[in-house]
Parts: sequence; structure tokens; C-alpha cells
Amino acid sequence: MCFKQIIRGVLTYVPELDKILPNRTGGTNSARYCYSAWLRHLVLAQKASLWNWPKVVAELGPGDSLGIGLAALLSGAQKYYAFDVVEYADTAVNLDILDELIELFTNREPIPDQNEFPLLEPKLKSYEFPSYILTEERLRQSLASDRIRSIRSALNNLSCSAYNDIEIRYVVPWYDISIVEQKSVDMIFSQAVLEHVQELAGTYETFYTWLKPDGFMSHQIDFGCHHLAERWNGHWAYSDMTWKLIKGKRPYLLNREPYSTHKRLLETAGFEIVDEIKTIDRSGLAREQLNPRFCQLSEEDLTTRTIHILARKTPQ
Ligand SMILES: C[S@@+](CC[C@H](N)C(=O)[O-])C[C@H]1O[C@@H](n2cnc3c(N)ncnc32)[C@H](O)[C@@H]1O
Repeated sequence: MCFKQIIRGVLTYVPELDKILPNRTGGTNSARYCYSAWLRHLVLAQKASLWNWPKVVAELGPGDSLGIGLAALLSGAQKYYAFDVVEYADTAVNLDILDELIELFTNREPIPDQNEFPLLEPKLKSYEFPSYILTEERLRQSLASDRIRSIRSALNNLSCSAYNDIEIRYVVPWYDISIVEQKSVDMIFSQAVLEHVQELAGTYETFYTWLKPDGFMSHQIDFGCHHLAERWNGHWAYSDMTWKLIKGKRPYLLNREPYSTHKRLLETAGFEIVDEIKTIDRSGLAREQLNPRFCQLSEEDLTTRTIHILARKTPQ
């Protein structure tokens, strides 16, 4: 397994060959996935008493389409900013996903569950359409035809000015903190992204700067090996040199940071964690089998395979 992964990493150094290796993330190329992921963030934020009808929503790492953010706009948000390091999304796919999302919301489709997306986290207690949040009155407004026309125009003209208050920005790469006004964002979310981010401390600090004082964050993080090893935590067994070879020249892979690093950096940046939903997995490699750098992980880190974190700025 490790040998295959090293070859894959080394191939990224071969000019031309890296161009034919797959350049998709999977996930957000499906409207049902986007719908399911967004409604999970929404339902859990409401449950944690954080849902404040965000007008300005920012997403880190949208991947193959802007679909999760489009679902946010169809739920009532006015501005959606997406930040990535690779430009995976394109207008044609975004427009197709938008059409499918409109149909899903119009039909008040139940949230696609674990049977359809076994790996999608977090799990919910109920997958019924959340009509207690997205009421008929709310949806009548958010799905109004002039709004949908504006969303379509904004998608066709990314980064241009707003259309009837609807604005979509897709910034790749995004590292300049000044691309967003300080204290202007109501909600920042990500789905399966923060395990890839190399500059984690700076990213959480940037989020703090962008978020309004009463804003909130919702992040789903997968600490697993992403098929780079046989056991779910097998990536913590690789030596640093092996890991470097596996990563190759790819713009990102996994940062290999456990749960406690995110918790510490979030708190250092000025956030308080309001709720966490963990999946615990004890089937991974034992502590003694890991790279010495990871042998000291706490029992909690060793067994936390995914987490959904809801956080807000710590009151001053
Ligand atoms: C596994 S994909 C997830 C995509 C999408 N969120 C989904 O749920 O399908 C990881 C995404 O994170 C992005 N990414 C990696 N490092 C990043 C960074 N430092 N800043 C923003 N996005 C990043 C990748 O380019 C990719 O789009």
C-alpha cells in the first residue's frame, strides 16, 4: 500500500504526467451531496442555537463545485464567498448543480442520508426536510424567481458586483486576509477541508478577523488517512520522509494534525467551541505502531476519526 502511494507521489514530479492524473475532489460534483452537506450544517447550527439567518457566508475548500454555497444562497443567504487553493469548480457545473438544487428545495426533499452517502459526516438523528427552520414563508422568499435569476447572473459573473444584493465570489488562491472586510461574515464553514490545510493557525486567525462578533463557524473535519493507508489512522505511521514522497508536488494532501491541534488553535485564535459531534473509531493502528512523532497522542486524538465543530468568537 505504502509503495503504491509513494509511486503516486513521485509521479507528480514528472512533467506532463501530473497533468493526466485525476484533478477532481469528488463530493460537490453531486447536487444531492451539496444539499445534504449544507442541510447538515444548518440543522446542527440551529440545534446549537447558533443559527442566525446568516446573510454573508464563506466556505473554505468548495472543491468541484460551489454547490454547498449555492444551497446556502437558496436558504436565504445574500453573499457567498468561496476560497480554494485549486480551481476545481467551473461555471457549467455550477449552473447544473444550481438547477438540481432548486428542484431539491422546491420539493422539500428529505436530507440524503447514510444509505446514499455512507461516508458523509456528520450523521443526523433525523433526515426529514427541516421545515421547522426553512418554513414555507422563508422558502417562498428565498426561492423567489427574481432571486434565482440573480443567483444565476452572479454565478455567470463571479467576482463582479452584486445582482440585487446577491454576490458570489470564488477566490483561488485566497491567502490575502484583506480580500474580505474585517468583521463582515456571519458564517464560515468547511466540509472535509481543514485536515488538508497546511497553515492552520493562520487560517483560524483569518477566520477570526473576518467573522462578525456574533458570527459562527461550522467545520466538518476527517482525520482519517483518505485511502493512503490500510487502517484509518495509518497515515500517522509513515515516517516524515515517506510522507514527503507520498505528498510529492501536490498542492495539498493531509496535514496529519489530530483533533487536539484544531481545538488548541481555535481557542488560541479566540474561538469558543459550542458543540462537537465526534465519530470514535478504535480499529486503528496501536500507539506503538505509529511514527514516534504521533506515539504521544492522547487516547482522544488516537480514536477521534471525524469531528463536526461548531464555534463562535469568545465573548470579550
Ligand atoms: C476533500 S476536498 C473537499 C471538497 C468539498 N468541500 C467537498 O465536501 O466535497 C478538499 C478541498 O480543500 C481544498 N483545500 C486544501 N487546502 C486548502 C487551503 N489551504 N485553503 C482552501 N482550500 C483548501 C482543496 O483544494 C479541495 O477543494
